[in-house]
Amino acid sequence: MSVSDDTCNAKSAESTSVVRSLYSDTDRYLQSFGAFLKDSDEHDAIINWITKYTDEMIEHFGGKKELKLMSVGCGDGQVDLVIIEKLKAASHFEKIHVTLIDPSGEQTERCQTLLQGLTAPESGKAQVSLTFKTTSFEDYIAGYEGEGGELPKYDIVYLVQMLYYVKSPFSVLENSIRSLEGTGRLFLIHVSGHSGYAKVWKKFGPRLPQDDNCNYTTADDIRELADKLGSHVQVDQNEITSTFVIGSDLKSSLNGQLAVDFIVEAAHFVEKAPEPLKGEVLEFIASDECSKMNEKGELCFNNNLSAITMYVR
Ligand SMILES: C[S@@+](CC[C@H](N)C(=O)[O-])C[C@H]1O[C@@H](n2cnc3c(N)ncnc32)[C@H](O)[C@@H]1O
Repeated sequence: MSVSDDTCNAKSAESTSVVRSLYSDTDRYLQSFGAFLKDSDEHDAIINWITKYTDEMIEHFGGKKELKLMSVGCGDGQVDLVIIEKLKAASHFEKIHVTLIDPSGEQTERCQTLLQGLTAPESGKAQVSLTFKTTSFEDYIAGYEGEGGELPKYDIVYLVQMLYYVKSPFSVLENSIRSLEGTGRLFLIHVSGHSGYAKVWKKFGPRLPQDDNCNYTTADDIRELADKLGSHVQVDQNEITSTFVIGSDLKSSLNGQLAVDFIVEAAHFVEKAPEPLKGEVLEFIASDECSKMNEKGELCFNNNLSAITMYVR
């Protein structure tokens, strides 16, 4: 779901008076995100998919000695580390250059620290060079357009879990495609349209806090936009199965409450949300539409992701 002006205007007084976005409360966000990382298999699910896709890329670019990559919204670089290490170890590349873009100075610093070891020369392996750009992708593009110049071209462009934070996902997709070399490949990973999040956001979005920068798009929305890029762009999509164990007591256990906050992107939702919204949301999260019970009697929220791959035919 894309939050249009209409949906923003439709937000009701019941939610706006007390419940704030999770991102407006850093401590709660970190607590909730920490619980999510601990109780979901998202990281492993993403890394598994990326490892397989990188193997395909190694074969696809087998004839090349030099590769150029662009990571859009690199965050702390955990995904980049896996991709670059794999490419570096493939015997046929001699040079790998990676441009990493993220507007957060803090994330860029973490990413630099994590990746710095990759640039050390190693015999029999490609020489890696890294360029960090602490800016938004939109400003990075505007910088080239302002100068009337051509965009730099890359063999692999990737956007992992970042399209939620842009004003125009379509123009980011368009500019990502424009940044591809002739045989280049673009991939993005985003929350699946079949996930529990997609269902919760679609059903309750207008009644949840709107004071954050998240556009609540799902991979199905992105797929629709990607299909509008034109028939010259080949688009494929794969579901990545993932689960978030949210416990069995959403109302009074801390873990349950943190899980609810993460899902609805609101701080202290169970404590602060008014009825009937709270009751409806909790019931829906626990329902078969969004969750299944595991053998231990714990609710497992559907955390599925979607990988969308694109190239110019
Ligand atoms: C959820 S994190 C994902 C990080 C990383 N890709 C990963 O999967 O681990 C989203 C990242 O996108 C970055 N971001 C937000 N808006 C952006 C924009 N307009 N252009 C580039 N990056 C952006 C954020 O700073 C954040 O580091």
